[in-house]
Amino acid sequence: MPAALWRHRLNRASRLDSHLASPGPEAIMAIIYKHPALTDYFATVGVRATSPASEIPSICKPYELGRVIDFPKLDLKIDHAFWAALPTDQISRLKKLSSSPGAGDLSHDPLLERRLAEAHLPAGLKRRLKKEIVRLYERVLPVYEALFAGYRFTRRQVVWRLNTIHNENLHVDTYAAAHTDHFARMFINLDDQPRIWMTSWSLAELYARFGERIPRDLVEQSTPNQLHAAINQAAFGGRSTVWWDSQPRHVVYFQPGDVWSVDSRQVAHQIFYGRRAVSIDFFVEPDSMIKRKRHYLNFARLYRAGLLGAA
Ligand SMILES: [Fe+2]
Repeated sequence: MPAALWRHRLNRASRLDSHLASPGPEAIMAIIYKHPALTDYFATVGVRATSPASEIPSICKPYELGRVIDFPKLDLKIDHAFWAALPTDQISRLKKLSSSPGAGDLSHDPLLERRLAEAHLPAGLKRRLKKEIVRLYERVLPVYEALFAGYRFTRRQVVWRLNTIHNENLHVDTYAAAHTDHFARMFINLDDQPRIWMTSWSLAELYARFGERIPRDLVEQSTPNQLHAAINQAAFGGRSTVWWDSQPRHVVYFQPGDVWSVDSRQVAHQIFYGRRAVSIDFFVEPDSMIKRKRHYLNFARLYRAGLLGAA
């Protein structure tokens, strides 16, 4: 997509910013250093955990357009000392836990029960961890579902990312097998230290800038998911050990308790440093998207057809 058109679409979506009249002293604001060569795709929404659903704006449209949306007033009352002290280095199964809160009863979570059983946690720690997880669900999930109102969720997935990460390579998210669902993604920094991200080109910009580096036969024969992996490699080196690319980056310090949403399949990013975070990753039926053609795999199809400018 031409850069000017991309910026125009993002600017149209920036009316969201008006929901944030004044951050206020209690706000948890991400600290952002913006690179002038990159599109400014950051937005803020001043929703509170206590806001009634009727007053919460839908973020589906700007989310599908690849904005990074921060929620500085969404005070989730997280016990950062608890999360920071979790012994994830001693109990490796604690490094990453999947869960799936029940739609009617948030504490009904057989997947989490299985994962916690596999981790062989001391009984007291297991009880406390479940309590903190359900407490967070109760505060954030009503807001999350209102922010993504209109999406039809096909799977309620949450991933607790409790290991320490240093210096990932820049990438858009790709998978061994393609996910055909869209997903509605929200991150929360649970730790008592900032989670430091860098973000770079959008998926559309990556194809426009680096697509020609992919051999034409590979473009024609690859699946969309394979093409996304190829564009990662063409732009950034494509492996976690390759971090010395020279592409521009925005630098973002997500503070303890910070909450943000971004379709990480659509915006290149890297965790530079982070310890404890959770991502709410409910799967979404693509037909319930505002624009079905913004599905992440469609970018590869459009590029292959020479039609990416119409995305
Ligand atoms: Fe990622």
